Amino acid sequence: MEGGWFLMRGCFLCLIISLLLQGEGDTFTINCSGFDQHGVDPVAFQAVFDRKAFRPVINYSIPTHVNISFTLSAILEVDAQLQLLTSFLWMDLMWDNPFITWNPEECVGINKLTISAENLWLPDIFIVESMDVNETPPHLTAYVSSEGRIKFDKPMRVTSICNLDIFYFPFDQQNCTFTFSSFLYTVDSMLLGMDKEVWEITNTSRNIIQTQGEWELLGINKATPKMSVGSNLYDQIMFYVAIRRRPSLYVINLLVPSGFLVAIDALSFYLPAESGNRAPFKITLLLGYNVFLLMMNDLLPASGTPLISVYFALCLSLMVISLLETIFITYLLHMATSEPPPMPQWLHSLLLHCTSPRKCCPTAAQKGNKDLGLTPTHLPGMKEPVELVGKMPHPGKAELNGSARAQQEYKARKQHMVDLWVEFSHMMDTLLFHLYLLFMATSIITVIVLWNT
Ligand SMILES: *[C@@H]1O[C@H](CO)[C@@H](O)[C@H](O)[C@H]1NC(C)=O
Ligand SMILES: *[C@@H]1O[C@H](CO)[C@@H](O)[C@H](O)[C@H]1NC(C)=O
Ligand SMILES: *[C@@H]1O[C@H](CO)[C@@H](O)[C@H](O)[C@H]1NC(C)=O
Ligand SMILES: *[C@@H]1O[C@H](CO)[C@@H](O)[C@H](O)[C@H]1NC(C)=O
Ligand SMILES: *[C@@H]1O[C@H](CO)[C@@H](O)[C@H](O)[C@H]1NC(C)=O
Repeated sequence: MEGGWFLMRGCFLCLIISLLLQGEGDTFTINCSGFDQHGVDPVAFQAVFDRKAFRPVINYSIPTHVNISFTLSAILEVDAQLQLLTSFLWMDLMWDNPFITWNPEECVGINKLTISAENLWLPDIFIVESMDVNETPPHLTAYVSSEGRIKFDKPMRVTSICNLDIFYFPFDQQNCTFTFSSFLYTVDSMLLGMDKEVWEITNTSRNIIQTQGEWELLGINKATPKMSVGSNLYDQIMFYVAIRRRPSLYVINLLVPSGFLVAIDALSFYLPAESGNRAPFKITLLLGYNVFLLMMNDLLPASGTPLISVYFALCLSLMVISLLETIFITYLLHMATSEPPPMPQWLHSLLLHCTSPRKCCPTAAQKGNKDLGLTPTHLPGMKEPVELVGKMPHPGKAELNGSARAQQEYKARKQHMVDLWVEFSHMMDTLLFHLYLLFMATSIITVIVLWNT
C-alpha cells in the first residue's frame, strides 16, 4: 500500500517534470490521453495548479490582458444619509492562461472545462468605490477553454459610495460610479479591456432590473482614465451608472393628499365668514395636515433638504395664513356688528369707489351692493335692520315726536356704519382670498418648475 503510494507520487513527479520539460520548447500542451477512461485526469492539470501563485505569463515583461464586463442585476438600496448605493452585480472577467492549452481532438472533443477557481490564478480586480467587504460566495468555478482563455464570473453585493443629491426627491436621478481596477498590478503587469460593449451591458442590465424595485436604470457610460498613485500607474475602467427613482409611490402617498388638503383649505373660503364655522374647519384641516406629515415622515429622505420638504412647509404655511386671515375677518365682523368705530374718510371713499358697479373688485362690489341697504344681512346683535333701513328714506312721518326721531336717526346712522364695516370686511375677505390664491398658484408653479429642471 505504502509502496504503491510512493510509486504513484514518483509517477506524478515524473509526469510533471516531463510535462514541464515538454512545455519548455514551444507550448504548454496538456496531455489528456487519459481523459476518456477516468473523466478528467487531475494529474494533467497539476502543473497548472501548482503555478497558481504566479501570474500566468511566459515572459514577465508582457502584461496580462483582463477583459471586464458586468451585469447590474439589482439596485437594493440607496441611502441618502450615508451616501451609499447598495447594488448586486455579476462581474465577468476574462484572461488568458498560456499554460493551459490542449488539443480538443486528442481529448475526446472536449474544448471547454470548468475548473474550481481556487486552483487557478485570479486577477485581483475590485471596485474602488466599494465600502464593504466583498461578500463573494466561496467555491466558484471558472470556464477554461482549450486555448487557455479563462472566463470567471462572480456575483457581488456592492455597497459603494456615491454622491447622492436628493434635492429633487422624489423625481431625482443619481449618477454613481463603479471603478474597476487592480489592487496591485500596475500597467506593466495588467491591462484592462472591455469584454462587451457598454450598450450591451446597459441593455442586459436594463432588461434584468426593469421588473423590480424603486429604481430604473437610465444608462451606463464608460471612461478609461489611468490612475497614478505615487510613481505607479494603474489601469482602470470607470462605469457611470445613471439611475432614476420611480416616483409613483411618493406622488400617491405624499403629493396628492397634501394637494387635496390645500385645495380643501382654499375652498373653505366659500364658507360664509359670519357663520363662525370657517375657523374651526380650518383648524381641523391644520391638525389633519400635521398628522399626515407625522405619518409620512418615514417616506422622506433622512438627510438634506429636498424640494418636497419645502413644498410641505409651503402647504402648511398656506393653511396657517388662511387661518390667520379667517381670524382677522372674524374680528372685523365682530367689531362691525358690536360697536362700529367711525370709518376714516379715505376708507369710506375707497369703499364707495370699489363698490360702485364695474370697478376694481367685481366680487366685492356685488357683495357690497347686496349688503348695502337693499337686502341687509341678518347679523346677530342687529335689531330689525329691514324696518330701520326701509323707514329711513321716508321723512314724511310727521307723527313721530323729536326725541324718538333723534333716536331713530342715531340708530339709522349706526346701522349705516355697521353696513359699511360689514361690507368692508367682505371686501377684505375677497381681497385676501385672491391674494392667497395668487400666492398659492405662484408657489406651486415655482415648485413644479424647479422639479422639472
Ligand atoms: C500522453 O500520456 C500518455 C500516457 O499517459 C502517453 O502514452 C502519450 O504518449 C502522451 N502523449 C503525449 C503527446 O505526450
Ligand atoms: C520578453 O518580452 C520582451 C518585450 O516583449 C522582450 O524584449 C524580451 O526579449 C522577452 N524575453 C524573453 C525571455 O523572451
Ligand atoms: C479582450 O477584448 C479584446 C477586444 O474585444 C479582444 O481582442 C481580446 O482577445 C480579449 N481578450 C481576452 C483575454 O478576452
Ligand atoms: C436591447 O435589447 C433589445 C432586445 O432585447 C433590442 O430590441 C434593443 O434594440 C436593444 N437596445 C440596443 C440599444 O441595442
Ligand atoms: C455621470 O457623471 C460623469 C462624470 O461626473 C459624467 O461624465 C456622465 O456623463 C454622467 N452621466 C450622466 C448620465 O449624467
